[in-house]
Amino acid sequence: MQKVVKYRCPSNIALVKYWGKKEGGIQIPANASISWSLSDLFAETTMIATPSNQTQLEFKYDGNAKPSFEPKILDFLNRIAPFSDFVKQHSFEVDTMNNFPHGTGIASSAAGFGALALCIADLEGKFEVGSDEFYQRASFFARLGSGSACRSVYSEPAIWGEHSEVENSSDLFAVPFEGQIHESLKNWKDCVLIVDDGEKKVSSTAGHSLLKNHPYAEARFKQAQKNIGNILQFMQNGNVSDFIALVESEALQLHSMMMSSIPYFTLIRPGTLAILEEIWTFREETNLPIAFTLDAGANVHLLYSSEIEEQVTNFIHTKLLVYCKKGLYLCSSIGGNPLKLS
Ligand code: PMV
Repeated sequence: MQKVVKYRCPSNIALVKYWGKKEGGIQIPANASISWSLSDLFAETTMIATPSNQTQLEFKYDGNAKPSFEPKILDFLNRIAPFSDFVKQHSFEVDTMNNFPHGTGIASSAAGFGALALCIADLEGKFEVGSDEFYQRASFFARLGSGSACRSVYSEPAIWGEHSEVENSSDLFAVPFEGQIHESLKNWKDCVLIVDDGEKKVSSTAGHSLLKNHPYAEARFKQAQKNIGNILQFMQNGNVSDFIALVESEALQLHSMMMSSIPYFTLIRPGTLAILEEIWTFREETNLPIAFTLDAGANVHLLYSSEIEEQVTNFIHTKLLVYCKKGLYLCSSIGGNPLKLS
């Protein structure tokens, strides 16, 4: 019998970054990472499963056949198959769309694989939808598609990777942060300033693999583990200025690892640095709680408390828009559950 399900899954932005994998296994992170989900930037995916003795796939993007995506998604299903008899015994039709443009450096793979993983965990019917086990299974599946995707299935800040200070943390799936977030770090927003909307010169996969022979890799992994412990403290005690300093340092460490890879590369653009300078000046002048972070790309994520939305919108319009490609920026609230749509 055919089964159909549809999910919406948010993208996410890492505060402490995953950059580098452990040897062996599929997408096993070299250090723990933590992210916020971006509820207004999401993928919506419909999945139809038909009993079959071979896992086959038909893939559509927003209703239109997209055979060029099929090998990647089929590869993903084949990675899941050893862990799921259901996947082994079905063929799939997938129709997916993102509500944000491609090539904007927003983690479309995190939202996309997150949505697919939720569909599979639901169709498989092993755990009750909405239970902790259900999200854990979806997170485990999502990781097999794209590592950072495993953090997208939670509305709470999600931690992925073993860490001594995070109970039940695992390299195989993300877990939601169970602590009490301080009022001053609740209700933040993320506006992504689009500095460059072109294809990335170096893929994340290639970037991760350059950590294997990286002269500073071990120091970076240690630093990230330490930063996880610290950021969890700041999120609970509301130490906003140390939170901001840590988040910005993480973004710059990510890009300095790229610049010191062998061979080296850069993804930031002159506009990226110009925006960072503007943010530092703005913060110095106003003392407002605003920070930046960067993904593996040139675009700047502007993080700020929603209480100062008016000032930040004004700041974007007067100082930052000039650096944005076609004046484009995309805003989202932090948090928000993945949604079952049918
Ligand atoms: O999940 P991947 O393989 O696309 O790697 C993502 C890595 C960063 O986005 C740069 C950092 C992170 O933790 O999300």
